[in-house]
Amino acid sequence: MKIYKWFEFDASHRLNIDLLSKDENKEVFGKCNNTPSHGHTYKLKVVVEGRPNDYGMIINYNDISKVVKPLIEILDHNFLNDLELFNSIPCTTTELMIQVLWDYLEPKLPGLYKLELKETDKTGCTYTGEMK
Ligand code: NI
Repeated sequence: MKIYKWFEFDASHRLNIDLLSKDENKEVFGKCNNTPSHGHTYKLKVVVEGRPNDYGMIINYNDISKVVKPLIEILDHNFLNDLELFNSIPCTTTELMIQVLWDYLEPKLPGLYKLELKETDKTGCTYTGEMK
């Protein structure tokens, strides 16, 4: 059984890889490469797996929030490219961001099963730590 909670943050970013030329970046990322940046209202779904305890809960929703809120504080109303959190990735695609978010949350949230990161209503990424 899984339980989940949605979180939201507003942030800007620009898709650009320093190792690529200006033209190559434009070719790969299109308008997502435009300067200075563009914004999204990101939605992050945190899914925890487990069995309901004696109180009927896999985990208290508040306990999920206690772990995730500090991460949201880092992300919200910031320019993602400049965050130390993302120093290890070459650009802030959802695919790379979600792995960083997983690495941050996984040690703090026992039973973490899946993350879903939505950039828009139609686009997003899910991750279960499978590429570790
Ligand atoms: Ni974008």
